[in-house]
Amino acid sequence: MNNNNKKQLDIVLTLDNISRIYSQGNNEINVLNNVNLEMRRGEIISLVGNSGSGKSSLLHIAGLLEKPNSGEIYISDVKCSKMTDFERTIVRRVSIGFIYQFHHLLSDFTAVDNVAMPMLLSGSDKVYSKNKAIDLLNNLGLQDRVNHLPSQLSGGEQQRVSICRALANKPDILLADEPTGNLDIKTAEVVFEQFISLARKNNTSVLLATHNQKLSEKSDRTIRIIDGQLVEN
Ligand SMILES: Nc1ncnc2c1ncn2[C@@H]1O[C@H](COP(=O)(O)OP(=O)(O)O)[C@@H](O)[C@H]1O
Ligand SMILES: [Mg+2]
Repeated sequence: MNNNNKKQLDIVLTLDNISRIYSQGNNEINVLNNVNLEMRRGEIISLVGNSGSGKSSLLHIAGLLEKPNSGEIYISDVKCSKMTDFERTIVRRVSIGFIYQFHHLLSDFTAVDNVAMPMLLSGSDKVYSKNKAIDLLNNLGLQDRVNHLPSQLSGGEQQRVSICRALANKPDILLADEPTGNLDIKTAEVVFEQFISLARKNNTSVLLATHNQKLSEKSDRTIRIIDGQLVEN
């Protein structure tokens, strides 16, 4: 597809013929076999598949954390395969947010400082970053937890702080790897609802790996990884 067409559709992420092969001893595992994916602005896509099917690998490749063996990645219409490590870091910082199953918050920093951090790293002003972080935390009902350390928060609260942090720089793309997989069912549902509604409010595209069928039904599209292929559900 040429760039003009991409712009018309407002595609924020393109995976073009991506393959990922892991070698282990004499064995080669072809985890992703020439896969293609286009994600539109504001679209929420669930990525499902058995454990070991390649969900995390696909998210790492889409997030420029890992390189594919072949194929091209476009973030909006910017080609990423030949970028230097520094350029990849900048694209990640500006355009991509990550949420993992475990929160990965900095343990010595309060909730507000964890959320402000990506904005400060991108050169935003201190006062602006702090106010924006408080705003985001308010949005997820954490107004009374702003100055808590991660260890002083429940699992659900920690994950909500991670969501705020991932959205801090208003990324085009949010990559979420089983973001509520570590929470009890009820908390997972509440946090997931808040996550999706905040993403929709920001018009952020979400690529979400999940095992949870009920959660995947809330997305716009579900894609299953089977034997290295992406299959539209
Ligand atoms: N760094 C690696 N080296 C070798 N094999 C790997 C590596 N990372 C993942 N794999 C293998 O690739 C497959 C897909 O893993 P992964 O993407 O983590 O799947 P999922 O997230 O769907 O559980 C698994 O068989 C896993 O063992
Ligand atoms: Mg995984």
